[in-house]
Amino acid sequence: MKLLVTYSSRTGNTKRVAEAIFSVMPEGTDIFPVEEAPPPQEYAFIAFGFWVNKETADQTAQVYVKKIKDRQVALFATLGAEPDSVHARRSMDNVISMLAPGNELMGEFICQGKIDPKITEALAKLPPDHPHALTPERKARHAKAAGHPNEQDLQNARTVYRVILRRLGI
Ligand SMILES: Cc1cc2nc3c(=O)[nH]c(=O)nc-3n(C[C@H](O)[C@H](O)[C@H](O)COP(=O)(O)O)c2cc1C
Repeated sequence: MKLLVTYSSRTGNTKRVAEAIFSVMPEGTDIFPVEEAPPPQEYAFIAFGFWVNKETADQTAQVYVKKIKDRQVALFATLGAEPDSVHARRSMDNVISMLAPGNELMGEFICQGKIDPKITEALAKLPPDHPHALTPERKARHAKAAGHPNEQDLQNARTVYRVILRRLGI
């Protein structure tokens, strides 16, 4: 059974989670950034990672996820918001809904990931009445995300994927 871990990552957060997941996968598992990943048809199981942009997967991830047909799949993601927020749930559900119906979803994992400081700086320049202005709440959220993914997040990702491997009978 050929296994793949592939991920889209702009600033490295999702890559770190991908590497943690890869560390519990059996020998012979492949790992690739999604831009370099072989076609999904070459694998029986795909652990697929993305970063959240506008309540869904980033654009690069969306292209690959839509190509996955009739495979066992597990998802993982990072986002700036709280992982137990409605926004996080919707983000994951939006990607689940992109999976072709013949795929079997084996599990999922999501955690916070630090927001690119350039984004925070750009928001700070917006007028206070702008919908994306850096309000005290938003500033606090960015500060909280800054510590993630942390060692506990990576440990949680490993645990979730160990359970997924058991479901796969590996
Ligand atoms: C352009 C852009 C849009 C983003 N949109 C969202 C969003 O809608 N919701 C959210 O929770 N986080 C959002 N984020 C935060 C990222 O999802 C988060 O920092 C993620 O961990 C980045 O992963 P990466 O380091 O693998 O690229 C956005 C970040 C960027 C740069």
